[in-house]
Amino acid sequence: MRKSRPPDEKTEQVLKPLRGGGYVSGEAASASLGITRAAFWKRIETLRRKGFIIESRKGRGYRLVSAPELSAEELRGLVNGSFARQIHFHKQVDSTNDLAMELAEAGSPHGTVVVADSQRKGRGRLGRRWVSPPGANVYMSVILRPTLPLRDAPLLTLLCAVACARAVGKHTGLDVRIKWPNDIQVGGRKLGGILVEMRSEPDKVLYAVAGIVINVNMRSRSLPPQLRQTATSVLEEAGVRHRRTPIVAAILNEMQRLLKRESKEAILGLWRQCSTTIGRMVSITEGDETYTGKALDIDENGRLIVRLKDGKRRKFSSGDLIMLREG
Ligand code: BTN
Repeated sequence: MRKSRPPDEKTEQVLKPLRGGGYVSGEAASASLGITRAAFWKRIETLRRKGFIIESRKGRGYRLVSAPELSAEELRGLVNGSFARQIHFHKQVDSTNDLAMELAEAGSPHGTVVVADSQRKGRGRLGRRWVSPPGANVYMSVILRPTLPLRDAPLLTLLCAVACARAVGKHTGLDVRIKWPNDIQVGGRKLGGILVEMRSEPDKVLYAVAGIVINVNMRSRSLPPQLRQTATSVLEEAGVRHRRTPIVAAILNEMQRLLKRESKEAILGLWRQCSTTIGRMVSITEGDETYTGKALDIDENGRLIVRLKDGKRRKFSSGDLIMLREG
């Protein structure tokens, strides 16, 4: 397995007292952390090398001026509960999902997160390539070890979609919606997506990896021509750049809350509230067949119920969906 080092927890601890924004005396901070002043200074230097701007003034101490736009150290402090105890942060990987699957296979716990600035071989649904340029978007994968019967596994994709829509919506003020099954959209354009992969036994999920992309500061014009009309980003929609770490944290906190506190029915209800698909005329391609009809609802397993043109109902567990113009 490729080497992946979780961030040094002690370095993260040094950030804690600095988060308040004021000056912190090196002496008091090192004493409260139970380390020597030399060790404290060494960790300040490590943070600086990672892009944290930390001012130091004689007689006053240290002050955090700014943090890099995406960092494991800041993320750690923004996520509550048991998630993100292990964060594997990389400048570039082949695919965060591949790395998370390897880590899960090797026993990494529920809530382990893999975040990358870019991917060489990002994967989308149906085996498609996912173009993953650096410096712009969120590419992350979360290891989940839920107690879940295999028949309910599609719910994980719905739960992640709800978490992304709610977290990104709250954080940016955008009206973020879900197109069945896993497209995160704003104004009918794709802002992100979800790819859940898993290992299971005949009756239960052993572990799942929830791969998530959110286009944050990407310009659509940087995309291949065929994607320019259909993709968007937070920057394109909100008109301002957003830092990625707080967006990653908001998604992780929302995922955790939904997994812990919400029933299956509640998740389905929240998904319906965010959905752009229910009530619309759609065309779905499943294998070689394309079906047209009205999307009526999702069932208790997350399958889309469609009334086809001949009046028959059909349930879809996967497929490529296009929303048709009404009228
Ligand atoms: C889709 O097809 O809509 C889902 C795209 C999912 C892409 C993400 S990026 C992070 C994670 N790593 C991958 O290789 N894929 C997922």
